[in-house]
Amino acid sequence: MRASFLKPAIGLLFAAALVSQPEVAAAQIRSTLDGVYTDEQARRGAQLNRDVCSECHYDEDFTDVLMMSWAEAPANALYQVISTQMPEDNPGSLAPEQYADILAYIFKVNGMPPGPKALEPTDEVLRNIIIRQKQ
Ligand code: HEC
Repeated sequence: MRASFLKPAIGLLFAAALVSQPEVAAAQIRSTLDGVYTDEQARRGAQLNRDVCSECHYDEDFTDVLMMSWAEAPANALYQVISTQMPEDNPGSLAPEQYADILAYIFKVNGMPPGPKALEPTDEVLRNIIIRQKQ
């Protein structure tokens, strides 16, 4: 009696899972062409770059050569390098949000468009963003 009452409900749940699965997967993988940071965030990143990074880096360090080695890589890998190795004289000294701001700035100077939502410094978000430039 009880089991037969539950059956249709379980069937529905299963159907819902089947339907929602591909949608979730499609929504999760994005590239830097999809507007993954905000303009305001990139502006903060530009300021941090001037204050902290420009002592050792020219802006050119963050464009052509960098993009050649990081194209098609997930953003969490580049975030990892910057947030654990930079600034070279004091690695890991900035807050996660500040490293995300700098990453946003790097995307900006490479012509990747801003969007409505700030880039979050979590591995979960960053690993699903592919670093990609307009051809
Ligand atoms: C004291 C000097 C210094 C400062 C300050 C500094 N860097 Fe660097 N950075 C270096 C050096 C030297 C390298 C090359 C090291 C290497 O290739 O192992 C480098 C390499 C890099 C790379 C290339 C990594 C790769 O593997 O492709 C990035 C990106 C980078 N720095 C970002 C930053 C950012 C962002 C900041 C500011 C938060 C910063 N750096 C501050 C000295 C510095």
